[in-house]
Amino acid sequence: MKNKAIIAPSLLACDFLHLEDEVKSAVAAGADIFHADVMDGVYVPNISFGFDIIKSIVSVSDIPVDAHLMIKKPYAYIDTLKKAGVWSVTVHSDFDTPDVVRSTLEQIKAAGLKAGLSLRPCFDASELDPYADICDMFLIMTVEPGFGGQKFMADMLPKIKAARLIADAADHPISVQVDGGIGEATIGLVAEAGADNFVVGTAFFKTDDRLENTAKLRRIAEENMN
Ligand code: DX5
Ligand code: ZN
Repeated sequence: MKNKAIIAPSLLACDFLHLEDEVKSAVAAGADIFHADVMDGVYVPNISFGFDIIKSIVSVSDIPVDAHLMIKKPYAYIDTLKKAGVWSVTVHSDFDTPDVVRSTLEQIKAAGLKAGLSLRPCFDASELDPYADICDMFLIMTVEPGFGGQKFMADMLPKIKAARLIADAADHPISVQVDGGIGEATIGLVAEAGADNFVVGTAFFKTDDRLENTAKLRRIAEENMN
C-alpha cells in the first residue's frame, strides 16, 4: 500500500494581514500540518516571526503546527513553544556543537514534542546518523534556508535518498521532510527519492484554487512515493 503524503504549508508565504483566514483556508484546502519558519537574522540572514505569532496560529488551527527553527539558540525557546501548543520542533544540525544539538533534541523530546533535525544544503546525510535514535523527522533543505520562493536544488535528491535509508534503518518511524522550492514540478522527484513530508510555501499560498492545488500536489507525491 502507498504511504500517505504529508502536505505542510509554510506560513512564511501566506498573507500576514489575514493570518487567521489564511490558516483556516489552508486547513480547508486539505493541509495536514503547518510549517512555521522562525528566523533570527543571525543563523540565517532574515527575520520572520516569533512565538506569540505561533501561539496565535495554533489557537486557530485544527491541524498540528511544526516549528522550523532557523535560530542560534533554539534551546532557549522549547518551553515557550511547548506552551504555545506546537506539535513538533525542528532544529538545524549546525546551530551549535554536536553535544548542544543532541541536548536540544533531548529537551524537545522531554517536553513531549516530536523532534526534527534539519540539514542545510552543504551537509551530507551522514550528519543525521548520530541523532537517528532521538529524531522523529529529518528535514532536508532543498534551498539555502532564509527565504521563500527560491529555486529547488535538484542536487539534493541523492541526499534525500540517503536520509530515507538512515530513517528506515532506525528502530522507530522517522519522517523525511523536504523544504524549499517544492511544487508541482518538483514534488514527484522528492517523493520518488524518499520524502514523505512536503513543505510547500509559494506553491501552496500563491495559487488561485488551493483545494484543487493541494489535491494535485498530494496526488503527484503519492504516485511517486515508494
Ligand atoms: C526557507 C523556509 C521555507 C520556505 C519555503 O528557509 O524554510 O519553509 O518558506 O518556501 P518555498 O516553498 O516558497 O520555497
Ligand atoms: Zn522552513
